[in-house]
Amino acid sequence: MFKKALAGIGAGALLLGMAACGGGDGGSEGGGDDGSLVIGFAQVGAESAWRTANSTSIQEAAKAAGHDLKFVDGQQDQEKQIAAVRDFINQQVDVIVLAPVVETGWTDVLQEAEDAGIPVVLADRGVEAADEALYVTRLGSDFAEEGRKAGTWAAETFAADADGTRILELQGTTGSAPANDRKAGFFEVLDAEGLNYEIVDSQSGNFTAEEGKAVMETFITTHGLDGIDLLYAHNDEMGLGAIQAIEEAGKVPGTDIQIIIVDGSTAGFQAGVDGKLNYIVECNPAFGPQLMDVLESVVAGDEVEKFTPVEEGVFDATQFEAELPNRQF
Ligand code: AHR
Repeated sequence: MFKKALAGIGAGALLLGMAACGGGDGGSEGGGDDGSLVIGFAQVGAESAWRTANSTSIQEAAKAAGHDLKFVDGQQDQEKQIAAVRDFINQQVDVIVLAPVVETGWTDVLQEAEDAGIPVVLADRGVEAADEALYVTRLGSDFAEEGRKAGTWAAETFAADADGTRILELQGTTGSAPANDRKAGFFEVLDAEGLNYEIVDSQSGNFTAEEGKAVMETFITTHGLDGIDLLYAHNDEMGLGAIQAIEEAGKVPGTDIQIIIVDGSTAGFQAGVDGKLNYIVECNPAFGPQLMDVLESVVAGDEVEKFTPVEEGVFDATQFEAELPNRQF
Protein backbone atom coordinates (compact mmCIF):
# COMPACT_ATOMS: atom_id res chain seq x y z
CA MET A 1 0.00 0.00 0.00
CA PHE A 2 1.25 3.46 -0.77
CA LYS A 3 1.97 5.86 2.05
CA LYS A 4 -0.90 8.20 2.88
CA ALA A 5 -0.70 11.62 1.36
CA LEU A 6 -2.11 15.10 1.66
CA ALA A 7 -2.44 15.22 5.43
CA GLY A 8 -3.12 18.75 6.52
CA ILE A 9 -2.75 20.16 3.03
CA GLY A 10 -5.39 21.91 0.97
CA ALA A 11 -5.35 19.17 -1.61
CA GLY A 12 -7.18 20.98 -4.33
CA ALA A 13 -5.70 24.37 -3.59
CA LEU A 14 -3.34 23.90 -6.49
CA LEU A 15 -4.57 24.41 -9.99
CA LEU A 16 -2.63 21.37 -10.98
CA GLY A 17 -3.85 18.89 -8.43
CA MET A 18 -0.75 18.04 -6.47
CA ALA A 19 -1.61 14.51 -5.68
CA ALA A 20 0.46 13.59 -2.71
CA CYS A 21 2.23 15.97 -0.43
CA GLY A 22 3.96 13.77 2.08
CA GLY A 23 2.79 13.52 5.63
CA GLY A 24 0.40 10.69 6.18
CA ASP A 25 -0.38 11.35 9.83
CA GLY A 26 -4.04 10.92 9.17
CA GLY A 27 -4.17 7.29 8.08
CA SER A 28 -2.81 3.89 8.86
CA GLU A 29 -1.09 1.63 6.39
CA GLY A 30 -2.99 -1.12 4.61
CA GLY A 31 -2.95 -3.14 1.40
CA GLY A 32 0.25 -4.74 0.19
CA ASP A 33 3.88 -3.72 -0.18
CA ASP A 34 3.56 -4.37 -3.89
CA GLY A 35 2.05 -1.00 -4.72
CA SER A 36 -1.51 -2.23 -4.54
CA LEU A 37 -4.06 0.27 -3.26
CA VAL A 38 -7.12 0.14 -1.09
CA ILE A 39 -9.66 2.25 -2.98
CA GLY A 40 -13.05 3.34 -1.66
CA PHE A 41 -15.48 4.04 -4.51
CA ALA A 42 -18.81 5.78 -3.82
CA GLN A 43 -20.70 5.28 -7.07
CA VAL A 44 -23.88 7.22 -7.99
CA GLY A 45 -26.13 4.19 -8.43
CA ALA A 46 -27.28 1.85 -11.18
CA GLU A 47 -29.77 4.14 -12.92
CA SER A 48 -28.66 3.54 -16.50
CA ALA A 49 -26.79 1.23 -18.86
CA TRP A 50 -24.07 3.90 -18.84
CA ARG A 51 -23.74 3.67 -15.07
CA THR A 52 -23.60 -0.13 -15.06
CA ALA A 53 -20.90 -0.04 -17.75
CA ASN A 54 -18.98 2.56 -15.75
CA SER A 55 -19.09 0.44 -12.57
CA THR A 56 -17.96 -2.63 -14.50
CA SER A 57 -15.12 -0.74 -16.18
CA ILE A 58 -13.81 0.53 -12.84
CA GLN A 59 -14.25 -2.80 -11.04
CA GLU A 60 -12.49 -4.74 -13.80
CA ALA A 61 -9.67 -2.21 -14.06
CA ALA A 62 -9.09 -2.27 -10.29
CA LYS A 63 -8.95 -6.06 -10.34
CA ALA A 64 -6.57 -6.12 -13.30
CA ALA A 65 -4.29 -3.64 -11.53
CA GLY A 66 -4.31 -5.70 -8.34
CA HIS A 67 -6.05 -3.06 -6.24
CA ASP A 68 -8.66 -3.71 -3.53
CA LEU A 69 -11.79 -1.78 -4.58
CA LYS A 70 -14.43 -1.21 -1.92
CA PHE A 71 -17.53 -0.45 -4.01
CA VAL A 72 -20.68 1.21 -2.67
CA ASP A 73 -23.79 1.78 -4.82
CA GLY A 74 -25.25 5.09 -3.64
CA GLN A 75 -28.67 4.37 -5.17
CA GLN A 76 -28.87 8.00 -6.41
CA ASP A 77 -28.98 9.12 -2.75
CA GLN A 78 -26.46 11.73 -1.59
CA GLU A 79 -26.82 10.70 2.07
CA LYS A 80 -25.83 7.15 1.20
CA GLN A 81 -22.79 8.43 -0.69
CA ILE A 82 -21.76 10.66 2.22
CA ALA A 83 -22.09 7.70 4.61
CA ALA A 84 -19.95 5.61 2.27
CA VAL A 85 -17.21 8.26 2.15
CA ARG A 86 -17.23 8.50 5.97
CA ASP A 87 -16.94 4.73 6.13
CA PHE A 88 -13.96 4.81 3.76
CA ILE A 89 -12.34 7.45 5.99
CA ASN A 90 -12.87 5.22 9.05
CA GLN A 91 -11.33 2.32 7.14
CA GLN A 92 -8.38 4.56 6.25
CA VAL A 93 -8.35 3.59 2.60
CA ASP A 94 -5.51 4.91 0.43
CA VAL A 95 -7.71 6.97 -1.86
CA ILE A 96 -11.41 7.73 -2.21
CA VAL A 97 -13.17 7.86 -5.57
CA LEU A 98 -16.43 9.79 -5.51
CA ALA A 99 -18.95 10.06 -8.36
CA PRO A 100 -21.14 12.76 -6.79
CA VAL A 101 -24.84 12.37 -7.58
CA VAL A 102 -25.34 16.16 -7.29
CA GLU A 103 -22.93 19.08 -7.30
CA THR A 104 -23.63 20.68 -3.91
CA GLY A 105 -23.51 19.52 -0.29
CA TRP A 106 -20.08 17.87 -0.22
CA THR A 107 -17.98 20.41 1.68
CA ASP A 108 -18.12 18.79 5.13
CA VAL A 109 -17.34 15.24 4.06
CA LEU A 110 -14.62 16.33 1.63
CA GLN A 111 -13.07 18.36 4.44
CA GLU A 112 -13.20 15.27 6.67
CA ALA A 113 -11.33 13.26 4.05
CA GLU A 114 -8.72 15.97 3.73
CA ASP A 115 -8.33 16.19 7.52
CA ALA A 116 -7.76 12.42 7.53
CA GLY A 117 -5.09 12.78 4.86
CA ILE A 118 -7.00 10.74 2.30
CA PRO A 119 -7.01 12.15 -1.24
CA VAL A 120 -10.33 12.29 -3.06
CA VAL A 121 -10.59 11.81 -6.82
CA LEU A 122 -13.85 12.61 -8.58
CA ALA A 123 -14.93 10.16 -11.26
CA ASP A 124 -17.55 11.12 -13.83
CA ARG A 125 -19.49 13.97 -12.18
CA GLY A 126 -18.14 17.13 -10.60
CA VAL A 127 -18.92 19.23 -7.53
CA GLU A 128 -19.55 22.95 -7.23
CA ALA A 129 -16.60 25.25 -7.82
CA ALA A 130 -16.51 26.29 -4.14
CA ASP A 131 -15.34 22.76 -3.24
CA GLU A 132 -12.60 22.65 -5.86
CA ALA A 133 -9.88 22.86 -3.22
CA LEU A 134 -11.16 19.71 -1.51
CA TYR A 135 -10.50 17.14 -4.23
CA VAL A 136 -7.36 16.39 -6.18
CA THR A 137 -8.62 15.83 -9.69
CA ARG A 138 -11.66 14.83 -11.77
CA LEU A 139 -11.68 12.28 -14.56
CA GLY A 140 -14.83 12.19 -16.66
CA SER A 141 -16.85 13.83 -19.38
CA ASP A 142 -16.96 17.48 -20.32
CA PHE A 143 -20.72 17.70 -19.92
CA ALA A 144 -20.96 21.29 -21.14
CA GLU A 145 -19.17 20.26 -24.32
CA GLU A 146 -21.64 17.39 -24.74
CA GLY A 147 -24.44 19.95 -24.50
CA ARG A 148 -22.68 22.17 -27.05
CA LYS A 149 -22.39 19.26 -29.46
CA ALA A 150 -26.13 18.62 -29.17
CA GLY A 151 -26.79 22.34 -29.59
CA THR A 152 -24.61 22.57 -32.68
CA TRP A 153 -26.58 19.82 -34.41
CA ALA A 154 -29.91 21.37 -33.38
CA ALA A 155 -28.88 24.84 -34.54
CA GLU A 156 -27.80 23.47 -37.95
CA THR A 157 -30.81 21.19 -38.34
CA PHE A 158 -33.40 23.84 -37.50
CA ALA A 159 -31.61 26.90 -38.92
CA ALA A 160 -34.23 27.28 -41.67
CA ASP A 161 -37.20 26.83 -39.32
CA ALA A 162 -38.65 30.32 -39.71
CA ASP A 163 -41.58 29.69 -37.33
CA GLY A 164 -39.27 28.97 -34.43
CA THR A 165 -38.17 25.62 -33.09
CA ARG A 166 -40.32 24.24 -30.27
CA ILE A 167 -38.22 22.19 -27.88
CA LEU A 168 -38.92 19.70 -25.09
CA GLU A 169 -36.05 19.00 -22.71
CA LEU A 170 -35.74 15.95 -20.48
CA GLN A 171 -33.15 16.86 -17.90
CA GLY A 172 -31.08 14.46 -15.84
CA THR A 173 -31.09 14.33 -12.05
CA THR A 174 -31.83 17.79 -10.67
CA GLY A 175 -28.68 19.44 -9.36
CA SER A 176 -26.32 16.95 -11.01
CA ALA A 177 -23.35 18.16 -13.03
CA PRO A 178 -24.46 16.49 -16.29
CA ALA A 179 -27.97 17.94 -16.02
CA ASN A 180 -26.70 21.44 -15.26
CA ASP A 181 -23.93 21.43 -17.85
CA ARG A 182 -25.70 19.62 -20.70
CA LYS A 183 -28.48 22.17 -20.42
CA ALA A 184 -26.12 25.15 -20.24
CA GLY A 185 -23.95 23.99 -23.16
CA PHE A 186 -26.96 23.24 -25.38
CA PHE A 187 -28.70 26.58 -24.98
CA GLU A 188 -25.40 28.47 -25.07
CA VAL A 189 -24.95 27.30 -28.67
CA LEU A 190 -28.58 27.90 -29.69
CA ASP A 191 -28.29 31.47 -28.39
CA ALA A 192 -24.88 32.01 -29.98
CA GLU A 193 -26.18 30.74 -33.32
CA GLY A 194 -29.25 32.97 -33.06
CA LEU A 195 -31.72 30.10 -33.43
CA ASN A 196 -35.33 31.17 -33.01
CA TYR A 197 -36.55 28.67 -30.43
CA GLU A 198 -38.97 28.16 -27.57
CA ILE A 199 -38.51 25.80 -24.61
CA VAL A 200 -42.02 24.40 -24.43
CA ASP A 201 -41.25 22.24 -21.40
CA SER A 202 -38.16 21.22 -19.45
CA GLN A 203 -38.42 18.66 -16.67
CA SER A 204 -36.24 16.12 -14.90
CA GLY A 205 -36.59 12.44 -15.71
CA ASN A 206 -33.83 11.62 -13.18
CA PHE A 207 -31.78 9.80 -15.84
CA THR A 208 -34.17 6.79 -15.79
CA ALA A 209 -36.37 5.30 -18.52
CA GLU A 210 -39.39 5.07 -16.19
CA GLU A 211 -39.31 8.73 -15.23
CA GLY A 212 -38.49 9.87 -18.76
CA LYS A 213 -41.51 7.97 -20.04
CA ALA A 214 -43.76 9.29 -17.26
CA VAL A 215 -42.77 12.92 -17.95
CA MET A 216 -43.45 12.48 -21.67
CA GLU A 217 -46.79 10.74 -21.05
CA THR A 218 -47.94 13.59 -18.84
CA PHE A 219 -46.83 16.16 -21.39
CA ILE A 220 -48.60 14.39 -24.24
CA THR A 221 -51.79 13.94 -22.23
CA THR A 222 -51.82 17.62 -21.27
CA HIS A 223 -50.61 19.31 -24.46
CA GLY A 224 -50.32 16.74 -27.25
CA LEU A 225 -47.27 16.63 -29.50
CA ASP A 226 -48.47 18.71 -32.43
CA GLY A 227 -46.08 21.50 -33.24
CA ILE A 228 -43.24 20.08 -31.11
CA ASP A 229 -40.08 19.91 -33.22
CA LEU A 230 -37.36 18.53 -30.99
CA LEU A 231 -36.84 16.44 -27.86
CA TYR A 232 -33.45 16.87 -26.17
CA ALA A 233 -33.00 14.03 -23.67
CA HIS A 234 -29.98 14.25 -21.37
CA ASN A 235 -29.43 10.48 -21.55
CA ASP A 236 -30.40 7.35 -23.44
CA GLU A 237 -32.73 5.93 -20.82
CA MET A 238 -34.95 9.00 -20.66
CA GLY A 239 -34.93 9.29 -24.44
CA LEU A 240 -35.90 5.64 -24.86
CA GLY A 241 -38.65 5.97 -22.25
CA ALA A 242 -39.97 9.05 -24.06
CA ILE A 243 -39.88 7.21 -27.40
CA GLN A 244 -42.15 4.54 -25.92
CA ALA A 245 -44.59 7.22 -24.74
CA ILE A 246 -44.54 8.89 -28.17
CA GLU A 247 -45.24 5.58 -29.93
CA GLU A 248 -48.05 4.73 -27.51
CA ALA A 249 -49.59 8.11 -28.37
CA GLY A 250 -49.63 7.08 -32.05
CA LYS A 251 -46.81 9.37 -33.16
CA VAL A 252 -43.60 8.46 -34.97
CA PRO A 253 -40.45 9.29 -32.98
CA GLY A 254 -37.59 10.50 -35.14
CA THR A 255 -40.06 11.75 -37.78
CA ASP A 256 -42.97 13.56 -36.10
CA ILE A 257 -40.53 14.82 -33.51
CA GLN A 258 -36.74 14.83 -33.86
CA ILE A 259 -34.80 13.42 -30.93
CA ILE A 260 -31.31 13.90 -29.51
CA ILE A 261 -29.96 11.62 -26.78
CA VAL A 262 -26.70 11.61 -24.83
CA ASP A 263 -24.69 8.45 -23.92
CA GLY A 264 -24.66 6.09 -26.90
CA SER A 265 -25.65 2.71 -25.50
CA THR A 266 -26.41 -0.29 -27.71
CA ALA A 267 -30.13 0.29 -27.09
CA GLY A 268 -29.75 3.95 -28.04
CA PHE A 269 -27.95 3.13 -31.28
CA GLN A 270 -30.50 0.40 -32.08
CA ALA A 271 -33.27 3.00 -31.73
CA GLY A 272 -31.28 5.18 -34.12
CA VAL A 273 -30.93 2.34 -36.63
CA ASP A 274 -34.70 1.85 -36.33
CA GLY A 275 -35.19 5.50 -37.28
CA LYS A 276 -36.61 6.46 -33.88
CA LEU A 277 -34.08 9.15 -33.05
CA ASN A 278 -31.83 11.51 -34.96
CA TYR A 279 -28.61 12.36 -33.12
CA ILE A 280 -26.43 10.77 -30.46
CA VAL A 281 -23.85 12.58 -28.37
CA GLU A 282 -21.50 10.04 -26.87
CA CYS A 283 -20.74 9.93 -23.15
CA ASN A 284 -17.98 7.42 -22.54
CA PRO A 285 -18.19 5.30 -19.34
CA ALA A 286 -15.18 3.07 -20.03
CA PHE A 287 -12.50 5.00 -18.20
CA GLY A 288 -11.65 2.40 -15.53
CA PRO A 289 -8.07 1.76 -16.75
CA GLN A 290 -7.42 5.50 -17.07
CA LEU A 291 -8.81 6.01 -13.57
CA MET A 292 -6.40 3.44 -12.14
CA ASP A 293 -3.49 5.34 -13.69
CA VAL A 294 -4.76 8.57 -12.15
CA LEU A 295 -5.21 6.97 -8.70
CA GLU A 296 -1.72 5.50 -8.79
CA SER A 297 -0.28 8.89 -9.75
CA VAL A 298 -2.27 10.64 -7.03
CA VAL A 299 -1.14 8.29 -4.28
CA ALA A 300 2.45 8.35 -5.56
CA GLY A 301 2.42 12.14 -5.28
CA ASP A 302 2.76 12.92 -8.97
CA GLU A 303 1.25 16.08 -10.33
CA VAL A 304 -2.03 15.50 -12.16
CA GLU A 305 -4.28 17.83 -14.09
CA LYS A 306 -7.25 19.19 -12.17
CA PHE A 307 -9.58 17.81 -14.86
CA THR A 308 -9.00 15.11 -17.45
CA PRO A 309 -11.79 14.75 -20.04
CA VAL A 310 -12.47 11.37 -21.62
CA GLU A 311 -12.70 11.10 -25.40
CA GLU A 312 -16.19 11.19 -26.91
CA GLY A 313 -17.76 11.46 -30.36
CA VAL A 314 -21.05 12.38 -32.02
CA PHE A 315 -23.16 10.34 -34.44
CA ASP A 316 -25.92 11.24 -36.88
CA ALA A 317 -28.34 9.00 -38.76
CA THR A 318 -25.80 8.22 -41.49
CA GLN A 319 -23.48 6.65 -38.90
CA PHE A 320 -25.81 4.68 -36.58
CA GLU A 321 -25.72 1.35 -38.42
CA ALA A 322 -21.95 1.22 -38.86
CA GLU A 323 -21.33 2.22 -35.25
CA LEU A 324 -23.84 -0.14 -33.61
CA PRO A 325 -21.51 -3.20 -33.50
CA ASN A 326 -18.84 -1.11 -31.78
CA ARG A 327 -20.96 -0.22 -28.79
CA GLN A 328 -19.70 -1.71 -25.55
CA PHE A 329 -22.70 -1.15 -23.28
O1 AHR B 1 -23.01 11.23 -15.19
C1 AHR B 1 -23.16 10.59 -16.40
C2 AHR B 1 -24.60 10.33 -16.66
O2 AHR B 1 -25.15 9.59 -15.60
C3 AHR B 1 -24.95 9.54 -17.91
O3 AHR B 1 -25.18 10.31 -19.02
C4 AHR B 1 -26.24 8.92 -17.49
O4 AHR B 1 -26.71 7.92 -18.33
C5 AHR B 1 -25.94 8.54 -16.11
O5 AHR B 1 -27.03 8.26 -15.35
